[in-house]
Amino acid sequence: MNSLEQIVSVAQADFLAAADAAALENAKAKYLGKTGQITELMKGLGKLAPEEKKAQGALINAAKGQIEAALTARRDALADAQLQQRLNAEAIDVTLPGRGRAPGGIHPVMRTWERVEAIFRSIGFDVAGGPEIETDWTNFTALNSPENHPARSMQDTFYIEGNDSTGKPLLLRTHTSPMQVRYARSHQPPIKVIAPGRTYRVDSDATHSPMFHQVEGLWIAENISFADLKGVYLNFVKAFFETDDLQVRFRPSYFPFTEPSAEIDIAFGSGPLKGRWLEVSGSGQVHPTVVRNFGLDPEKYIGFAFGSGLERLTMLRYGVNDLRLFYEGDLRFLKQFN
Ligand code: FA5
Ligand code: MG
Repeated sequence: MNSLEQIVSVAQADFLAAADAAALENAKAKYLGKTGQITELMKGLGKLAPEEKKAQGALINAAKGQIEAALTARRDALADAQLQQRLNAEAIDVTLPGRGRAPGGIHPVMRTWERVEAIFRSIGFDVAGGPEIETDWTNFTALNSPENHPARSMQDTFYIEGNDSTGKPLLLRTHTSPMQVRYARSHQPPIKVIAPGRTYRVDSDATHSPMFHQVEGLWIAENISFADLKGVYLNFVKAFFETDDLQVRFRPSYFPFTEPSAEIDIAFGSGPLKGRWLEVSGSGQVHPTVVRNFGLDPEKYIGFAFGSGLERLTMLRYGVNDLRLFYEGDLRFLKQFN
């Protein structure tokens, strides 16, 4: 192998060994740079005789061409490799399952709300809604709970800034019972309505939440009795829980706005509290003073009302032993109901 052939083959090996563009440019300088081997040979041509110069020059040029071709080939190969590496790093595997949002679900308490509405609509009840910020009169006084009456302390109230037109502080309704007054004063008897919605009290434990839901029921006509309350309510819970095999009790109680009054308890049929009683509702025959506040004659109109906790109904339906779980926003819990 003559020395030119040797230079070419060493240069080719050198270029192949260059791992990146910078290493390749360094290798190039050894042959084609200002003091590179080929450049030095070119400089040496001047000392040769014209005939020899021509022949030797052609050989050096041919070698230079080979080195340049090897350099270009290696440059292209390195650029390709770099591109391939980037494509691999940024690769999208189109066969992977999508990461899109999972479909949402209905909150278990909202499910109860919808169920309660459907059942009462099916037996001819209207469904009404009303404000969560209430006046003292609608939340308490019209319901026969005068100011300073100890029964008011049964419901620890959130008052808010601002007064109503009589100068009394506004409040977050403590129950849906003000809807009895609002609805009855704007409709003619017979009155047959439920009013589901959010309610608020300074309460918090396994069976009490500061924000919770009640559904008010009111049926006022000329001959609606406590027996109708029992019939309607028992039919409701049988439809709601989809079973006749329920333990339900009406426990004598007191509310200023009903007389007689009863709290309604249902026993857990499943879950960790199986067999334990849970209060789901207050109820009773509407007090004559309240009927008068409806703008109706209590000698003529009579009926019943109830106010049930939607969280409590939901707890019983699914065997949930702590209602705070409904409001922790933990999807692992909430997903179970969809
Ligand atoms: C009342 O609120 C009465 N207004 C019910 C009523 C209506 C009686 C009409 C007579 C006629 P009570 O405070 O017991 O009553 O609440 C009714 C139901 O709401 C309770 O049985 C319970 O199921 C639910 N409840 C009350 N407080 C909370 C709370 N903090 N968290 C969750 N549920 C509650
Ligand atoms: Mg109660």
